[in-house]
Amino acid sequence: MTKEAAQRLEIELLFEALYRCYGYDFRSYSFESASRRVLRRVGMDGLGSISELQHQILYNENAADRLLQDLSINVTEIFRDPLFYLTLRQQVLPLLDEYEHLKIWHAGCATGEEVYSMAIMLSEEGYFPRSNLYATDFNNVALDKAKSGIFPLEQMRLYSKNYQAAGGKRSFADYYHANYNSAVMKGSLKERTLFANHNLATDSSFGEMQMIVCRNVLIYFDKKLQDRVFNLFADSLCEGGILCLGSHETIKLSTLSRRFETISGDQRIYRKKW
Ligand SMILES: C[S@@+](CC[C@H](N)C(=O)[O-])C[C@H]1O[C@@H](n2cnc3c(N)ncnc32)[C@H](O)[C@@H]1O
Repeated sequence: MTKEAAQRLEIELLFEALYRCYGYDFRSYSFESASRRVLRRVGMDGLGSISELQHQILYNENAADRLLQDLSINVTEIFRDPLFYLTLRQQVLPLLDEYEHLKIWHAGCATGEEVYSMAIMLSEEGYFPRSNLYATDFNNVALDKAKSGIFPLEQMRLYSKNYQAAGGKRSFADYYHANYNSAVMKGSLKERTLFANHNLATDSSFGEMQMIVCRNVLIYFDKKLQDRVFNLFADSLCEGGILCLGSHETIKLSTLSRRFETISGDQRIYRKKW
């Protein structure tokens, strides 16, 4: 066996251990990026091999939690990709007028910036009082930050710019107050949101949604896991429900694509057919 093949096997066994012991399933993640992160952890801890890391994982839950933080990429922004939000505001929300009540699921919400963006937009467009938001991620550390609604103050200049480009109708400063180096988002923005742990690789549907936003999550999954998630979303959306993906993600290559029509190809927004 070559050194590369042996290393690959070690990483596969590590992921198997992580899954069987703790339910975190990285076996179907794109191998390149996940293995780079594993090797970085091995290097940072001065371990002799990946199998040593596996030993730690098996006997020490803290080591497993730390590896989960290494493996999950939580990069996000308020009004990330402003054109996406502008399209939602102008073209997609009116499609939802027919529903009396809106249930919106943010799958893989990371530290929640996406959810606060949605709450702001819904309130400006008058949909907030009849909406419920479900913000899920499998990373509890990220979820706790999301629940707190506290973000670095230094980001606010960028977020304000994003907000304006996304069609914001007020001043972004109306939605937070500064506290030392932090920006604390207005409490009312999270009062209609339920934050919960949900693992897209292993958990099932938990209700019928009018919109699902899952952006910049599927890029880390292989095709098999992407299909599992597309099935989960197709089962979770009502007829006519909206699916929003990230700018490098598409449902087009999946067998599920026949159940969706495209609302905006550029912004990766799809609608479940009747
Ligand atoms: C790059 S962030 C995307 C955040 C946000 N959706 C955005 O587009 O700005 C990816 C998120 O997906 C989450 N994630 C990865 N695998 C997951 C899984 N199997 N189940 C639930 N969340 C997962 C990570 O923990 C991380 O918070």
